[in-house]
Amino acid sequence: MADDISSGLDRRTILGGAAALLGAAAAPELPARAPKKEGGAPPFLWGTAGAAYQIEGGNVASDLWLLEHRAPQLFKDPSGDACDTYHRIEEDLDLVKMLGFNAHRLSLEWSRIEPEPGQFSTASLDYYRRVLLMCRDRGLVPLVTFSHWSLPRWFAERGAFRSREGVAPFADFCRRVAEHMADLIGLAATLNEANFRDQLDWSPSYARLKPLLERAQANVAAAANAKSFASPIYADPATQPFMIEAHTRAYAAIKEVRPDLPIGVTLALTDDQPAGDDSGIARKFAETCEPWLRVDADWIGVQTYTRALVGPTANLPPEAGAELTQAGYEFWPEALENVIRKVAPIAKKPIYVTENGIGTADDTRRVGYIRRAVTGVERCIAEGIDVRGYLHWSLLDNWEWNYGYSRQFGLVSVDRKTFKRSPKPSAFYLGKIARNGGLAKRR
Ligand code: BGC
Repeated sequence: MADDISSGLDRRTILGGAAALLGAAAAPELPARAPKKEGGAPPFLWGTAGAAYQIEGGNVASDLWLLEHRAPQLFKDPSGDACDTYHRIEEDLDLVKMLGFNAHRLSLEWSRIEPEPGQFSTASLDYYRRVLLMCRDRGLVPLVTFSHWSLPRWFAERGAFRSREGVAPFADFCRRVAEHMADLIGLAATLNEANFRDQLDWSPSYARLKPLLERAQANVAAAANAKSFASPIYADPATQPFMIEAHTRAYAAIKEVRPDLPIGVTLALTDDQPAGDDSGIARKFAETCEPWLRVDADWIGVQTYTRALVGPTANLPPEAGAELTQAGYEFWPEALENVIRKVAPIAKKPIYVTENGIGTADDTRRVGYIRRAVTGVERCIAEGIDVRGYLHWSLLDNWEWNYGYSRQFGLVSVDRKTFKRSPKPSAFYLGKIARNGGLAKRR
């Protein structure tokens, strides 16, 4: 482990991080829109990522806020003020720029923008427009996810994506957002990990948790006096056909507003490896991934953290003795390279790594993980695979869904009382890679 770190890490980057930060070249000047391929190769995007609900704080009109405050309790901690990013976004974007990145992935909180059906908040739309202007002013290409899991409460009460009824509201929301700010978006993603629900069916822990999740949803529905309460990341029945339709309609709606905007979809992808001769790996790919690689999209967002050993009908636990991360995943940085190699020839579209990272309290393991993951990405590029960006999950230690604040995926820690941000050595390490245009130090 120690070797892993010392071989890849420039000691000065860690110890002299702040100095490097201030003295280094400014982030490259990039237009807010993602550059087109004509007129030269587009610059590779090196960036950080975050999602509104996990960092903004106080998203009281969201489905998750309601779930957080009803028994049985699914969450280790309530999200509360989260990282207070809603009020501190400027500081965060300054940090992203100073660290040396040229891109940032953010998401919009649908429940702020449309707190009641059809009632759009101009103030909230303006807020996100200002955020995009802040990105532009800092030379950061904004990759905007229109919906990263949290939903307006009213949409959950109407069944979310359990039926075709969910399609039009999502497409309308996307159109409205596009009309307000598409001119400032670099890349758009409709849904975060659109296939997440499909993947859950292969997760053994989901099978165990399902009764609890169902009970929580039923309680919330009763408390909200609603017929049902749906949440695409929890106990919903399979939603794939309706989510594909929602994505497709949203894609068309955004394109109508801004035809040249590259729109993609991001997918949860593990590096699947057969656990034996009877592995269901092919069926898993057919169920959880292939349909999403066929949807209307200009690019695919790969979100990979680890490998999965696939048994006949479900993933198996990591092998005994495997190094585990906080999330219980195996430490397996090569997963990213393997997933890109598998998906790219089938997707036949540009790939952006929209999430990759590790939950750990030991930042030296994050540095080691980044070095090996980025090395794999560079190998793919060297072989001609069209990978156009690496956006690390995440900028901040944030609210990790059911696990509350107990997992640290951030390049930057956040004091839970003062909200003070403190970049970790890994932030300077990846920032330096970004500045140099890769590990190979091409400058
Ligand atoms: C999600 C993020 C989450 C990350 C780490 C991804 O599946 O998109 O929201 O924080 O995993 O758990």
